[in-house]
Amino acid sequence: MKILFLNGPNLNLLGQREPGVYGRTTLAEIERKVRKRANELKVRVEFLQTNVEGELVSWIQEAKGKYDVIVLNAAAYTHTSIALRDAIAAVGIPTIEIHLSNVHAREKFRRKSLIAPVCVGQISGFGVSSYILGVEAAVNINAT
Ligand code: DQA
Repeated sequence: MKILFLNGPNLNLLGQREPGVYGRTTLAEIERKVRKRANELKVRVEFLQTNVEGELVSWIQEAKGKYDVIVLNAAAYTHTSIALRDAIAAVGIPTIEIHLSNVHAREKFRRKSLIAPVCVGQISGFGVSSYILGVEAAVNINAT
C-alpha cells in the first residue's frame, strides 16, 4: 500500500507557529514519526507540504494510479477550497481529512469543512497523533 500525505499552508511553520494550538513538534519530526509507524505497518508513504492551493490540486490529480490512499491536512484550505474538494471527488482516491487541532472547538469558520463530504472521514484534535491515526486509518481503509 502507498499512502500520500499532503500538508497545506503554514504547516511548514509547525514548531514555532501558535504552539499553544499546534504544539512544538515540527513538520519534519511529524514526518519521521509517520514514517516510523508506516514502516511498522509495512506501508509506503510520500510526505509533501505546500503553501499553494493549486499545487495541492495538482498533487491530488497526479496521485491517480500511484497511491491507494491520501491523508490530507489541507489546513486553512479545508474551510475555503472548492477546487480541493473537486480534485478529491475527481480522482476518487479514498481521502482521509486530518487536523492537529479540534477544528470544531475553535472559531466558527473552522467548523465548516468543504472537503469533508468527499472524504472517507475526519481525524481532528489529537495533535501529532492525528497523523499517526491517519496512517492507521489508511491501512484499515478497506476493513469492514
Ligand atoms: C489545521 C486547522 C485549520 O483550521 C488551520 O487553518 C490550520 C491547521 C490543523 O491541523 O489543526 O492551518 O488544519
